[in-house]
Amino acid sequence: MEAGVAEQKKSKGWCWYLIVFVIGALVVAAATLTVSKNFRHSAKPTSIPGAIVEKYADTLEIILQFFDVQKSGKLVNNRIAWRGDSGLRDGNEENLNLSKGMYDAGDLIKFGFPMAFMATVLSWAILEYGDHINAEKQLEHAQDSLKWITDYLINAHPAANVLYVQVGDPQVDHNCWERPEAMTEKRPLVQVNMSFPGAEVAAETAAAMASASMIFKIIDFTNSSMLLMHAQQLFILANTYRGSYSVSIPQLQKYCNSTGYGDELLWAATWLYHATEKQFSLKYVLLSRINFFGAKDESTSENLDLQLYRESSEAIMCALVPYSPTATSSRTESGLIWVSEWNSLQHPVASAFLTVLYSDYMLTSQTETLYCNGKSYKPEDLHKFAISQAYYVLGNNPMKMSYLIGYGSSYPQYAHHRGSSIPVDAKTGCRDGFKWLNSSRPNPNVAVGALVGRALPQ
Ligand SMILES: *[C@@H]1O[C@H](CO)[C@@H](O)[C@H](O)[C@H]1NC(C)=O
Ligand SMILES: *[C@@H]1O[C@H](CO)[C@@H](O)[C@H](O)[C@H]1NC(C)=O
Ligand SMILES: *[C@@H]1O[C@H](CO)[C@@H](O)[C@H](O)[C@H]1NC(C)=O
Ligand SMILES: *[C@@H]1O[C@H](CO)[C@@H](O)[C@H](O)[C@H]1NC(C)=O
Ligand SMILES: *[C@@H]1O[C@H](CO)[C@@H](O)[C@H](O)[C@H]1NC(C)=O
Repeated sequence: MEAGVAEQKKSKGWCWYLIVFVIGALVVAAATLTVSKNFRHSAKPTSIPGAIVEKYADTLEIILQFFDVQKSGKLVNNRIAWRGDSGLRDGNEENLNLSKGMYDAGDLIKFGFPMAFMATVLSWAILEYGDHINAEKQLEHAQDSLKWITDYLINAHPAANVLYVQVGDPQVDHNCWERPEAMTEKRPLVQVNMSFPGAEVAAETAAAMASASMIFKIIDFTNSSMLLMHAQQLFILANTYRGSYSVSIPQLQKYCNSTGYGDELLWAATWLYHATEKQFSLKYVLLSRINFFGAKDESTSENLDLQLYRESSEAIMCALVPYSPTATSSRTESGLIWVSEWNSLQHPVASAFLTVLYSDYMLTSQTETLYCNGKSYKPEDLHKFAISQAYYVLGNNPMKMSYLIGYGSSYPQYAHHRGSSIPVDAKTGCRDGFKWLNSSRPNPNVAVGALVGRALPQ
C-alpha cells in the first residue's frame, strides 16, 4: 500500500488531487447516507447490518472537515486546530480579493478548474441528498463550504470576459514544502479572456455558480441571482470563445491539462437549464434529471436527443454493474473499479456516486429495470455496487484500512500534504521544510476527511 505516501513522481495533473479527495468524500457521503435512509424508511432494507450503516453515515462529519483543512483566507469558525489564516494577499496585485477558495490537495496552489468542479459536485450532492445531510446535522457546514468557494469564484470573475483561473506558481510551489500559513512566495495570477480563451474552465465555473445559485436561492444567505448572472456571462464567454485553456496557456499543461471543452459546455448548459428554471434552452442540454426517462412536454427532436443520452448512460451503468454482459474488466480482484494508478480512487468513488444517483432516479421515475444486453437489473443492483465501492474505501479491503483519513482506527499516516506533515510550530521555510516531507514519522496533523489519491490494489 502506498496511499498518499510522499509522491515524487510528478506525472500528470496535479490539480486532479483535490477533485479526487473531495469528490470521493462526497460520494461516500451520498452513498452512506442513502443507505442510512433506506434503513430508516424503506420497507426493503439491503442486507447490510444496521449498526454498520449508522457508523458509516457518521463519516459525513469527517468528510466535510476536509473543506476546512483546505481553506485559504481569513478563517471563520475554524474547526481545524492546526489551520490558521493564509493567502490573505492573494489577488492584491490585480486589486482583487482572492483570499478565499481552497488549496489543491497537498499543495498551496488554487486551481480554478478543479475547485469549480468540486463546487458543482458539492452543489449536486446537496441538491440531491440535502435532506440526509441535514438529518446528520451537516447541511449548514456543507453550504458554508460551498459559499467559501463561490465567494472566491465571484471575485475571480471581475469583468464579463475575464476569469482568473489560478493563484500561485506551481513550479515555485512544488519547490517549496511549507505550511500555507507560512508561505511568503509571490502568488502570480493567471487569467483567461477573449484573446486567451479557456472554454472548459469558464464553463466549469459557470456550472459551479449556476448549481450553487439553486442552493442559495432556497436559503437566501447569499445573492443567488448574482451567482446566476456570473454563470450566464461565463457560459457566453466559454461558448463564444471556444478554445482550450491549456492550448491558450501551454505552461498549464504540465499541471492541469485539458482534453477538450465539449463536456464542460454541456455540463454548464445543463446546470443553467435547471438554475434558470428551464428558460435556458433545452437544445444545449443533453442530460436532464427529470426529463431523463422521457420528457412529456418537449419536442420530438429534443426527446430523441434525450433518448440518445439515456442510452449512453445506460451503457455506463451496464459497464459498472458487476457481471453484466458488458461489465468493464477494469476492476481489481476485490471488485474495486480500477482505471489508473494515478489517483486510483477517483474512478471507483465517481462510479459509486453516479450509480447511486441513477438508481435513485430510477426509483423516483418508477423505472423498474435496467437492461444490459438482455440481462435485467434493478435499482438495488446499482445501489449494491455503489455501496461496495464506498465500503472498500472505508476499510472493507485487503489492507483492512480506511482510505478516508481520520476515519476508523487504521488510516494512512503519511499523506502527501504540506499542512498535515509540518508541525504548527516548525521554523522551517521553503527549502528546509522538505525535511518534513522526508520524515519517517507519521504526519503530526491529521488531514481529516482526505481520501488518499493513491492506494495500490492488492
Ligand atoms: C478579503 O475578503 C475577506 C472576506 O471575504 C476579508 O476578511 C478580507 O479583509 C479582505 N481582504 C482585503 C485585503 O480586503
Ligand atoms: C489575457 O490572458 C492572457 C493569458 O493569461 C494574458 O497574458 C493577457 O495579459 C490577458 N489579456 C489582457 C488584456 O489582460
Ligand atoms: C444581487 O445581485 C443583483 C443582480 O446581479 C444585484 O443587482 C444586487 O446588487 C446584488 N445584491 C447584493 C446585496 O449583492
Ligand atoms: C495535454 O493534452 C493535449 C490534448 O489531449 C495533448 O495533446 C498534450 O500532449 C497534453 N500535454 C501534456 C503535457 O501532457
Ligand atoms: C529529502 O530527501 C531528498 C532525497 O530523497 C534529499 O535530496 C533532500 O536533500 C532531503 N531534504 C531534506 C531537507 O532533508
